[in-house]
Amino acid sequence: MKARIIGTGSYLPKKVLSNSDLEKMVETSDEWIVTRTGINERRIADAEEFTSTMGALAAKKALIDANLKAENIDAIIVATITPDYIFPSTACLIQKELVAKKAAAFDIQAACSGYIYALSLAKALIDSAQYKNILIIASEKLSSIVNYKDRSTCVLFGDGAAAAVVSYHHKGLEIKATSLGSDGEQAKLLILPAGGSRNPASLKTIEDEMHFIQMAGSDVFKHAVRRMESSSKKCLKKANLTEMDVSWLIPHQANMRIIDAIAKRFSHLSQDRVFKDVVKKYGNTSASSVGIALDELLQKNQIKKGENILLTAFGAGFTWGSTILTYEV
Ligand code: ACO
Repeated sequence: MKARIIGTGSYLPKKVLSNSDLEKMVETSDEWIVTRTGINERRIADAEEFTSTMGALAAKKALIDANLKAENIDAIIVATITPDYIFPSTACLIQKELVAKKAAAFDIQAACSGYIYALSLAKALIDSAQYKNILIIASEKLSSIVNYKDRSTCVLFGDGAAAAVVSYHHKGLEIKATSLGSDGEQAKLLILPAGGSRNPASLKTIEDEMHFIQMAGSDVFKHAVRRMESSSKKCLKKANLTEMDVSWLIPHQANMRIIDAIAKRFSHLSQDRVFKDVVKKYGNTSASSVGIALDELLQKNQIKKGENILLTAFGAGFTWGSTILTYEV
């Protein structure tokens, strides 16, 4: 019996925003977007879809996959940078929607590293015998904080949610090790400047477009590659494994060039073992990205017993994190 993922799920809104749609909105081109990012299209939530409703839909699928009822969930952890409200937490809104009556519920915020932070926390709560069944959810409605007049960011992001049931169990994906890190010195390179207590919403913050994502793209790019490489290494060491033991690689789905740079470290892996589909189809879905990718990989039923999956992510903060999952079914 160990902390294991026993079920996963994901949810993507139906509405597709393609590169050619964006060509009509800002001065950009399909060619620029594809060569610089690898993104073909992304999904956008409609007016009645929220971070909580998308998260609840992903969670329901994960519960079915785990063959577990919501009433058996001890805690709900939601990772998001686009909560429905500053408070109450999105986790509480999802707890109500699922009727998870005995669950504690709270949000965490680690931007694109959120899914891995939530997994790490769930493992710690299970290893310390506090809880048996934890639902982790990453959900983002990034379209609510993207400036669709800013071509340097609006082409990158999309909406979506992922969930996993982490339980004290004898079968499933063992969370073998996790490694987390942060560097607040770089906070301003990727930031949503207003709407919090430092710059509360005002006419001026709206006029100054401070309620949108602001990103120093090329600086973030360099840090992302470096931190995901070092974090992966650290995580493998903790698990007593080497790069050669990795059978599947799921890097944060932000940019194809970042994924390719990280994949170079794992040159023994064939291209089909480095997960890239999610960035192509859905763009950067922040916290949800690696969770959606894991769910899609598991649905393909290609993973063999004993194989190791490495997840690694990087995001605003800066934050970063990696985890090694071993498939035992
Ligand atoms: N279409 C056409 N031209 C564009 C576009 C666009 N959509 N966006 C920018 N450009 C132009 C710029 O204006 C610039 O023009 P100039 O040379 O005349 O000034 C030129 O293209 C090059 O711009 P760069 O920013 O240098 O382009 P770069 O190659 O760095 O790619 C990108 C930009 C895609 C944003 C890249 O830097 C990147 O992916 N960064 C990392 C993002 C990331 O990983 N984020 C993860 C965390 S996200 C989170 O936590 C929420």
